[in-house]
Amino acid sequence: MLSTLKRNPLECWSADFFELPIARVTLPFADAVLVHEPAAIKHVLVDNAANYRKDPIQRRILAVGLGDGLLSVEGERWEVQRRTLAPVFARRTVIGLTAAMLSAGQGLVERWRRFAPSDVVDVATEMTLLTLNVLALTIFSDGVASDLDEFRLAMNAYFATIGRIGALDLFGVPEIVPRPGRRRLKQTMSYFEGVIDRIIAARQRRLGACPQSEPATDLLTLLLRALDPSTGRPMSLTEVRSNILTFLSAGHETTANTLAWSLFLLSQAPEWAKRVRDEADRELAGSHEGLVERLVVTRAVVEEALRLYPPIAALSRSAERVDEVGGVTIRPRALIVVAPYVLHRHRTLWDRPDEFDPTRFMPGARARIARYAYLPFGAGPRTCIGASFALQEATLVLAMLIRHFDLTLAPGAEVWPQQKITLRPVNGLPMLITPRRAN
Ligand code: HEM
Repeated sequence: MLSTLKRNPLECWSADFFELPIARVTLPFADAVLVHEPAAIKHVLVDNAANYRKDPIQRRILAVGLGDGLLSVEGERWEVQRRTLAPVFARRTVIGLTAAMLSAGQGLVERWRRFAPSDVVDVATEMTLLTLNVLALTIFSDGVASDLDEFRLAMNAYFATIGRIGALDLFGVPEIVPRPGRRRLKQTMSYFEGVIDRIIAARQRRLGACPQSEPATDLLTLLLRALDPSTGRPMSLTEVRSNILTFLSAGHETTANTLAWSLFLLSQAPEWAKRVRDEADRELAGSHEGLVERLVVTRAVVEEALRLYPPIAALSRSAERVDEVGGVTIRPRALIVVAPYVLHRHRTLWDRPDEFDPTRFMPGARARIARYAYLPFGAGPRTCIGASFALQEATLVLAMLIRHFDLTLAPGAEVWPQQKITLRPVNGLPMLITPRRAN
């Protein structure tokens, strides 16, 4: 069991779990209750959320560098940050980031035009590059042009190192046991933090000269100006920096996987690729005003990809006090697992659960999906703050890529999901990319 958990936790889900509403499992390190019944999920994540804290295992993994950011803080500090940050990720603000997202997408289109048709390209890695670029552009815009290259280098080193966080942390081995790569991680972290601090300081100087007059064109300015609506207080420098690191970490691999899985699924469903392409040809040629709302088919494909391959395959919580969920007694410190990967393919909740069918998410049909049967972004107070950002980015970029290229799976490629913090294709996504002649 431990070795499977370490290699690919996804393989622990046997057929039974896809049919059972609630199951109790004794793991080597915890008493676990797996909850895949909408009313019970609502109880844990929403109605009685105060009794179910983010579990210490998840927090230990996230603690490196993100300690003061929204993803990892708890209690009063979380409440203050969440209400301060809410306007930064409001739908209206995110729509204002459309141009930056399209510009990063255009950069990728130009890069892909340089590949030869016979080149096998790992599209999963390409998507990671793209989503980091989107974040660099939306957080810092062009105002840091001179620092952007240095920033990208520091960011790549950071993510290459953080990817090594492994089984020792997952299974709660005490901190006293030395972690391979931990020293290097600390060094990379402090270098990366230094780069971010310099960018923040330069921006503060600029904003200081003319406080509110400059329009906020990126997330950094919004973060520096954000005030807690209850107290009127801004965030500290440490909080701003931790949240930038948090957005970069929480927002890049998740969205990259969403795009990679969408492209994989479309490569297996030519009729849907054609529908996306027709829509993209029509809508991308028009105004950017209301563009995201008009990409209805593309958005349905993204949502269906998030159903079949949810990047956060499992959510976990730790019970504080005794409780009862769907007739099962929950003991204090029990680990509660809600796995979107299982929930989204549950035999009792979905028709043809393993089949790719974006029709489910087309207007009209979407309203019939039970609220707690589809949770790619979680639910309740700790729900993803970047959901609109991620959906908009994935929809725009998917439309652009399908408009400009034909993508086919490289011959002999085997694509299989592996859960490594996020749900990614285990051997990458090797594809052949051919530019379309018409554009
Ligand atoms: C498709 C892409 C994404 C997916 C699938 C995703 C999924 C999730 C999920 C499931 C949670 C809740 C975890 C839990 O309840 O334990 C979460 C939280 C969070 N996400 Fe995302 N996310 C995505 C993109 C983003 C982006 C783009 C950002 C920011 C730029 C972001 C920032 C955050 C933050 C800060 C939290 C913590 C919220 C809190 O605790 O108050 N995510 N995400």
